[in-house]
Amino acid sequence: MILTRRGMLKLSAGAGAALVLGPVPTFVQGDLIERPIPSTGELVPAVGLGTARTFNAGASESELAPLREVLAVFVEMGGKVLDTAPAYRKSETVSGILAEQLGVTDRLFMATKVAARDRERGIAQMENSFDLLKRDVMDLMQVHNLRGWATLLPLLREWKAAGRIRYIGITTSRSSQYDDFEAVMRQEELDFIQVNYSVGEPLADERILPLAIDRGMAVLVNEPYNRGRLFDAVRGVDLPEWAAEFDADSWGQIFLKWIIGHPAVTCPIPATTQARHARDNMGAAYGRLPDAAMRRRIASFFAGL
Ligand SMILES: NC(=O)c1ccc[n+]([C@@H]2O[C@H](COP(=O)([O-])OP(=O)(O)OC[C@H]3O[C@@H](n4cnc5c(N)ncnc54)[C@H](OP(=O)(O)O)[C@@H]3O)[C@@H](O)[C@H]2O)c1
Repeated sequence: MILTRRGMLKLSAGAGAALVLGPVPTFVQGDLIERPIPSTGELVPAVGLGTARTFNAGASESELAPLREVLAVFVEMGGKVLDTAPAYRKSETVSGILAEQLGVTDRLFMATKVAARDRERGIAQMENSFDLLKRDVMDLMQVHNLRGWATLLPLLREWKAAGRIRYIGITTSRSSQYDDFEAVMRQEELDFIQVNYSVGEPLADERILPLAIDRGMAVLVNEPYNRGRLFDAVRGVDLPEWAAEFDADSWGQIFLKWIIGHPAVTCPIPATTQARHARDNMGAAYGRLPDAAMRRRIASFFAGL
């Protein structure tokens, strides 16, 4: 933790620091929790960054500056997995601009999505994402909310074989879609799934997460704060003493570490517009994690609020 704070001091040393980040320092890497992607063994940090709504901003410097600080803090603290989508309006554009300004376009593990009725539209949408994110190769392409999956997954496999996509996956964030989602997980070879999972909405741990382990699929967790609602539930509630037993300094870190503590999870992808929250969130990728008994304790504490 001391090292990460030092990273923050370094980052905030000058107003222009984020713009001239240069080579990314490696001093926080030692303690960073990483998780293997089952299909290859490649390691990724255990906390990522979402962009829905938060990165849907205009291109003026006043709108970009705070978001650039979010991305700079994220990268300084060892973050890599950035999740975006064409459906998030300007988020791909903003992600591409900020990554280029910080000089981290190729350092990030960029995950975006595709949702289209037919192949041609799918191709056009993906080409646009590559342009906006300024990448020749996309780390992860996910079929957004299963939309068009039967048509798009064969296309994604072609692009993967051609070297334009490194990993393929599917996403959902609604439990009403879990039956269909599970069926696709059973019948398709996928590198990743992405699902909503939080101490406030834990349903994925009944079937989706165990199935991901069985099928050897990496798991990105969306809505890890239930779109921010978890913080409303604990407003005014003191941090329990037992949070120190797994090195959690904040409610955000309790919520994220509860997620990372599940053995199926590769990384949650919390979204934020604030650099101090990005620092808080990345802090969950350091230190000890709650074991199964502690995870139950967190869940029952939360249920009792
Ligand atoms: N079907 C899909 O594929 C799908 C669906 C939903 C989401 N996603 C992905 O998952 C990502 C995350 O989900 P989400 O954005 O819906 O919700 P979320 O990450 O659960 O919550 C975001 C909210 O939490 C707040 N927050 C973040 N860090 C905080 C902290 N440390 N302390 C206090 N508040 C904090 C943010 O406010 P501040 O800005 O004030 O920090 C924001 O209002 C999305 O951005 C997207 O990339 C995918």
